[in-house]
Amino acid sequence: MSLRLRPLRRDDESEVLAAHRELAADGFSFLLGYEGATTWSEHVAAWEARGRGEIIAPLRVRGNFLVAVVDGVIVGRTSVRYGLNEFLYHEGGHVGYCVRPAFRRRGYASEILSQALVHVRAAGVQDVLMTCDDNNIGSAAVIERAGGKLQNIVTSEAGHAVRRYWIR
Ligand SMILES: CC(C)(COP(=O)(O)OP(=O)(O)OC[C@H]1O[C@@H](n2cnc3c(N)ncnc32)[C@H](O)[C@@H]1OP(=O)(O)O)[C@@H](O)C(=O)NCCC(=O)NCCS
Repeated sequence: MSLRLRPLRRDDESEVLAAHRELAADGFSFLLGYEGATTWSEHVAAWEARGRGEIIAPLRVRGNFLVAVVDGVIVGRTSVRYGLNEFLYHEGGHVGYCVRPAFRRRGYASEILSQALVHVRAAGVQDVLMTCDDNNIGSAAVIERAGGKLQNIVTSEAGHAVRRYWIR
């Protein structure tokens, strides 16, 4: 598969904002920490600084945001955390991901997770915590196919049942 993960770029703005609108219809956020008051250039610069460990907000741990590109088109993204705080340990996990609606059921989430695992392991994370809503059948399947072992199901701050998996 030709899918590649790479950092956000300044020329991604229109494509990524389109993805952000599409995922909003699913009740999911493609972009993290993006606010209308922030310019796109500032948003990209903030992620560059987070990747270098200079800024750790909003997740309070070092991490990165990588888009998934196939044939020059952004099909999804992953958010990788190189550590866990209390919230991430409880319900956020090390790796988040999503795929744009038009590109689903092609194995892209599975490939994004596979490459994100290589990425976090290179950053020193061996045991990877993955979480998904208990009713998110697609994401649970992706995590289980990647070797995730269910540890437990907890209640999130928002009151949802959340599955916690470890990929060791
Ligand atoms: C969940 C999500 C990431 C799956 O992306 P995807 O690229 O379609 O997943 P894949 O193609 O890699 O799916 C791999 C397998 O997972 C299962 N699967 C994926 N989506 C599914 C769905 N909607 N229903 C049932 N099974 C599903 C299937 O077994 C699939 O294999 P198959 O297509 O050969 O049957 C995508 O639907 C999405 O972005 N949803 C909104 C955001 C989200 O929920 N992110 C995860 C938060 S924890």
